[in-house]
Amino acid sequence: MMENVVLTTDIKEYPLLRRGKVRDVYDLGDTLLFVASDRLSVFDVVMPNGIPGKGRVLTQTSLFWFDFLKDVVANHFVTASVDEYPHPLRKYRAELEGRSMIVVKAERVDAECIVRGYISGSMWKELVAARKVGSNTVHGFTFPADLQESGKLAEPLFTPSSKNDVGHDENISYDQLVKLVGKEIAQLCRDKSLAVYEKAADYALTKGIIIADTKFEFGFKDGKFILIDEVLSPDSSRFWPVDKYTVGQAQPSFDKQPIRDYLESTGWNKKPPAPNLPAEVISAAAVRYREAQKLLTGRG
Ligand SMILES: Nc1ncnc2c1ncn2[C@@H]1O[C@H](COP(=O)(O)OP(=O)(O)O)[C@@H](O)[C@H]1O
Ligand SMILES: [Mg+2]
Repeated sequence: MMENVVLTTDIKEYPLLRRGKVRDVYDLGDTLLFVASDRLSVFDVVMPNGIPGKGRVLTQTSLFWFDFLKDVVANHFVTASVDEYPHPLRKYRAELEGRSMIVVKAERVDAECIVRGYISGSMWKELVAARKVGSNTVHGFTFPADLQESGKLAEPLFTPSSKNDVGHDENISYDQLVKLVGKEIAQLCRDKSLAVYEKAADYALTKGIIIADTKFEFGFKDGKFILIDEVLSPDSSRFWPVDKYTVGQAQPSFDKQPIRDYLESTGWNKKPPAPNLPAEVISAAAVRYREAQKLLTGRG
């Protein structure tokens, strides 16, 4: 059976609160409906084609982690069963089943809570820039002089970034986070992020996946600190296959690599619009997404 591709949803009964790069969020009052579409962004640009089944993978992976981590931190999850959704939503079952969930609406802490077990991406770039001016210190962390790209850190680091709803997020120091959200909330963000990362990364390693880094978001509901947004999905994390891990270079991405490689081969300038993706590239990515879910959750 061909998996249906859902690029956008059009639910008329509730206001669309936000259409992100990947998810459509509807306002149900005290709760939100999150629908993970099959949209894909690569190099921060949304591709013209969807990846069949990707939204389901994202949703199912988050659901797995919410349950796995619930003893470490409470979360915003309410239900993912369309039968329990408000009546007006049930006629959208074909678009919603497996790829959506209802969550409690929280007061968001405006910070991206990033944990890194390995150095990669923006933090590696910043370290390279610091070294050019003779320093190994970035946002208050001093790294070993011989640390290489993708190298494992002595211990996982909490490296927050500012949350910019438009434009790019910027890495900030812990002290800057304290100034933004206050000492108490900053501490909660750091302690819970590290605890969640450590439990998840230890587990993932037993399944052949390195969680190099990941981003969490938190919020408050009735005074209670909870984990919100998506959790440890391929979109919010760098997953690296253990058997391909080689320090000193960028690592292949578990999920997006076939697409990145294809896009690089076209000479595309990484500015919208992105070129159309060939069918075999799309199916290679779809297989990777499913594989990541299967390895981590044992299902899919
Ligand atoms: N339980 C929640 N309550 C309130 N806001 C939330 C909750 N969970 C996630 N959010 C916010 O909803 C938005 C979802 O948008 P998202 O799909 O992540 O788009 P993008 O990442 O492309 O900006 C984010 O701004 C996130 O912070
Ligand atoms: Mg987001």
